[in-house]
Amino acid sequence: MTDVGDSPSVRRLSAWDAAELQTLVDDYGSPLYVLDLERVRQNYRRLAAAFPDADILYAVKANALGDVLTTLREEGAGLECASAGEVQRALEAGASGSEVHYTAVNPPARDLDWIVDTWREHPDLTVTVGSEDTIDRLADRGYDGRLCLRVNPGIGAGHHEKVQTGAAAKFGVPAERAVDVLADAAGRGFDVVGIHSHVGSGVSSDQLDDHREFVARMGDLARKVSHVVGDLEFVDVGGGFGVPYRTDEEPLDLESVADATREALGEIDARLTIEPGRYFVADAGVLLTDVNTIKAARDTTVVGVDAGMTTLIRPAMYDAYHPIRNLTADLDADEREMIPQTVAGPICESGDVFCADRELPATERGDVLAIGNAGAYGYEMANQYNSRPRPASIILADGDARLARRRETVDDVTRPERETCGGTDADRKTDDHPAASDTDNQRVR
Ligand code: LLP
Repeated sequence: MTDVGDSPSVRRLSAWDAAELQTLVDDYGSPLYVLDLERVRQNYRRLAAAFPDADILYAVKANALGDVLTTLREEGAGLECASAGEVQRALEAGASGSEVHYTAVNPPARDLDWIVDTWREHPDLTVTVGSEDTIDRLADRGYDGRLCLRVNPGIGAGHHEKVQTGAAAKFGVPAERAVDVLADAAGRGFDVVGIHSHVGSGVSSDQLDDHREFVARMGDLARKVSHVVGDLEFVDVGGGFGVPYRTDEEPLDLESVADATREALGEIDARLTIEPGRYFVADAGVLLTDVNTIKAARDTTVVGVDAGMTTLIRPAMYDAYHPIRNLTADLDADEREMIPQTVAGPICESGDVFCADRELPATERGDVLAIGNAGAYGYEMANQYNSRPRPASIILADGDARLARRRETVDDVTRPERETCGGTDADRKTDDHPAASDTDNQRVR
């Protein structure tokens, strides 16, 4: 078993065993996601050691593979879920209701129906709501269980404007209204257990002041709330712990983040809860991809690969940097010239590139490239655009590699439509999270 003592605070792409990864592509094909569960454990233990007094939830959205959920549960994490689907995954991974927090963001009726049904069987689950409307919609369904209020503290941070949630109007009840909303909910019989906020994702060391200010606002609010509705069970300050993607970036100094968090929160009569996603899984995963085309373009060399923005969307969506390593060149005895290259996928969009004009060893057709830090928000955001099946996922654990999720086929992509066209009208309405109830509309009408 892993010991925190021997776990480096960052695992760079260069530390992966090229021969082992090459063998995986030979055996399972490309593109291929690979996730090392031992590294997930190390990341958890390092963070837990820095926050010994906090409860830790894993934000499932970063990587929802069952093996990841099981591993982090074994380590002691609860699970923060963004949808009914993620709650279902959590329960399938063996979580009890008390380990599950469902964070409802403009929740679809279908999700709320399913969650309330599930709560009847698992009355200890916690629902975090970000608007008064959602409280009404829960009440309409008969829910009066554990309730946490997501607040908008008016301060955001993170690696890109699209993931800075703390000040975005979409998220949470404005902090200045939180006390009234919670007093009202308590008066209506809800079991008010906590307050929550999430500043954003990929917060770096140079945003530590924003983090401090954000946590201080949550501490102030917790004290105000406790005067009105009594002590809270927990104050959840979300996730957002950044990881280094570039080789010259330093990892977060967790001790400083933990000290700043405690100091900014001040005295509260409630447990501190954090809910990171990326931190546990990002550097535990790589994406492997075959090179199929080399083209001399006007100003660069284009390296065509079989993964694209449908496999890993972060570069296209956030201009995110991911390290790229040529495994074949590393395994070769030959020295290759370093030249600027643009690594591009097979999708018909100019944004479908993993890097532009990056200095890499001259690539050859048939090489295998590894794209680093692909364990967080990689497979989770993969999609079937251009009718491309999603890749397979491999788990490394206990010195072995095994297939955790098979590669999709084109048949998987076309099946729902084929089945619908061939089926009856009743089939067309069927859904495994069944049709949403009319509860919301009845109320409004
Ligand atoms: N809690 C809540 C309520 C969240 O919305 C999130 C992330 C987290 C926790 C975990 O944040 P983390 O520790 O992973 O930063 N797709 C984007 C990231 C979106 C994050 C959304 N919310 C990316 O690839 O950078």
